[in-house]
Amino acid sequence: MEFRRIAVIGVGHLGGTLVQGWLGPGGLPAERFVLSRRRIGLLQRWSASGCGIAASNEEACREADLVVLAVKPQQAEEVLRQVEPSVRDRETVLVSTVTGLRIDRIRELVPTVEAVRAMPNTAAAIGQSMTCLAGEGASEPARAAVEALFGAVGKTLWISEDLMDAATVLGACGVAYALRFLRAMTQGGIQIGFSSEMAQLVAAQTLRGAASLVADTGNHPEAEIDKVTTPMGITIAGLNEMEHNGFSSALIKGVCASFDRIAKNRPR
Ligand SMILES: NC(=O)c1ccc[n+]([C@@H]2O[C@H](COP(=O)([O-])OP(=O)(O)OC[C@H]3O[C@@H](n4cnc5c(N)ncnc54)[C@H](OP(=O)(O)O)[C@@H]3O)[C@@H](O)[C@H]2O)c1
Repeated sequence: MEFRRIAVIGVGHLGGTLVQGWLGPGGLPAERFVLSRRRIGLLQRWSASGCGIAASNEEACREADLVVLAVKPQQAEEVLRQVEPSVRDRETVLVSTVTGLRIDRIRELVPTVEAVRAMPNTAAAIGQSMTCLAGEGASEPARAAVEALFGAVGKTLWISEDLMDAATVLGACGVAYALRFLRAMTQGGIQIGFSSEMAQLVAAQTLRGAASLVADTGNHPEAEIDKVTTPMGITIAGLNEMEHNGFSSALIKGVCASFDRIAKNRPR
């Protein structure tokens, strides 16, 4: 199964990064995409890239065999009601990136689709997303096609739907946590003598290398840290000072605060 016509409803931050990634080097032809958002004027750049622009969500979905929903949670149910008649009589896969919107609810509103939830992140724009997927009720061909599509913009992992809130925090919010870490490291670098450009370059490449040491080998972070920390050395002095100031604890508490906020923000 391969998707021939892909409707993306809600081309904002996330929808835009996904389309950018899918159109990237060696990617899909722009003609396969039809895009929709409320402020159609903001889709000009995509129209110039060759994507189709729909005047309405219904129109976007009329010929689509894949619908990607990337609107905010409070907008999602209204949009699903709008598109339901357009997908009623055809085989359509619907991938929702919407935080907190459960597959049961999607299938109540649009009963004829095969529904999959996807939690990518904005690094999809450069083919480096971590996308968690859930879709227990979807067919194998639909799951394989969705996996291939998101595999084109990074790594994928199938998880149980119950873990989707956790995936939202670790994978999607995680980009912001990592970038704040990077900014702080850059600021430290400036204080000890680098220009801001040099500090950012050194910090970003160091962060990329450190992440790859773990991602590419499966090694535990602490095993890699042991290789850098000499007894009475400079690294352990800095690390322990950070820990005395609550470094790991602040990160863990932040992850948990984001997780708790999902429940508080869930539409009732
Ligand atoms: N940002 C992330 O890193 C990230 C990661 C994973 C998942 N998500 C999920 O992805 C979804 C979108 O997040 P976002 O950050 O991309 O939000 P966003 O930038 O606000 O984008 C939302 C988009 O939805 C469009 N929209 C709103 N109502 C619409 C309607 N009735 N019909 C068609 N389009 C409509 C908006 O268009 P107008 O601006 O023209 O109104 C906008 O383009 C959320 O549910 C979020 O939970 C986000």
